[in-house]
Amino acid sequence: MRNEEYLLIPGPTPVVDSIYDALAEETRAHTDPRFVSRFKKAIERTKRILNTDGEVILVAGSGTLVMEMALVNAVAPGERVLVISHGHFGDRFTKLAQAFGFEFDVLQSEWGRQVSRDDLAQQLKKHTYKAVTVTHVDTSTGVKADLDDFIPLIKQHGALAIVDGVCATTALPEDMQYDYAGEGTSIDIVLTGSQKAIGAPPGVGIIAFSKKAVAARRAMERVPAYYADIENWIPIMEDPSKYFATPPVNMIYAVEEGLKIVEDEGLEQRYIRHEAYGKAVRAALRVYGMEPLADEGDAAPTLSCIRYPEGTDDASFRAALAEKGIILAGALAHLAGKAFRIGHMGNTTPEILESAIRKIGETLQEQGTEADVEKAAEAFREEVGALQTK
Ligand SMILES: Cc1ncc(COP(=O)(O)O)c(C=O)c1O
Repeated sequence: MRNEEYLLIPGPTPVVDSIYDALAEETRAHTDPRFVSRFKKAIERTKRILNTDGEVILVAGSGTLVMEMALVNAVAPGERVLVISHGHFGDRFTKLAQAFGFEFDVLQSEWGRQVSRDDLAQQLKKHTYKAVTVTHVDTSTGVKADLDDFIPLIKQHGALAIVDGVCATTALPEDMQYDYAGEGTSIDIVLTGSQKAIGAPPGVGIIAFSKKAVAARRAMERVPAYYADIENWIPIMEDPSKYFATPPVNMIYAVEEGLKIVEDEGLEQRYIRHEAYGKAVRAALRVYGMEPLADEGDAAPTLSCIRYPEGTDDASFRAALAEKGIILAGALAHLAGKAFRIGHMGNTTPEILESAIRKIGETLQEQGTEADVEKAAEAFREEVGALQTK
């Protein structure tokens, strides 16, 4: 890896050389057959990875754009949305709903926990919802949503199930034809970005619509969007030599390479590896007295939000680690200064993560907190080894 630093924030994630190489290929016309065939490959790979028989769209933009795309194409102004929120990024759907004039309710968990199945069941009795949003992993809290619990209830209610996979896709299963509880209880929309578990740089929004979700768009005469209207994109994805708006040519090369790496590794192996990384990082950090915000049962395989031990100063701790080439993220909202976030997803390796664990321990020591670096590294290796050989 030619990176000079280990980027262990919750996305973007460390970019591997073959993705940089793809990014640096010659920029071609977006109508050039050589580009068109790469774009087609990226679309086909996305379809296979999400196992959808519906439509997938890759556009220039970040995760927030595809969150917007999901809502405006599924819900009409005046219709009602339920937002299941496990933190800052769940809450973002409420901002979008407000911006577009959708009626909405929020089921908000205490930060670090999941909304309970019972609370969701109760809420669904109160109104008729056109769509329900679930953030698969909320990047602010490191909490994962249990789709096995939520999707059947949402679908039995008759709502469209929208899954924000920005911090989950390719690290956690998001099979769009998987029937969670029989009778068509499958996810309708998955949205994600290029920069997290897929491991490419930021810049491409990826969204998939089931046939039912496409039908929901088509039932509306118009939507309050132009660039984000899927009706403008579906013909392009079916034939990428056509033009609607210029695709990010080099980023499509990069995403195609990122998706190739995912398919070459295999989704099952990728899920196991991420699960192992999450457990191992948290086990190691616990040795330093650093407690994860989420209980292990709710904790994400892709990133962890970790409380500082008493007396650690967030800014100087992360600055000292940055000097050593380890880049971590601060926590958000009321946790700012009290916790940090560490990403362990995408093409990150056990070597990178163990090095981060060691440097975190050394930094704690330098700043006057006891830390058993060897014990933490051993805890990390044990968990990674145990889970990866499952
Ligand atoms: C779960 C989740 N959803 C949405 C977003 C928004 O994505 P972006 O920052 O790419 O717009 C993020 C960003 O971190 C996220 O983690």
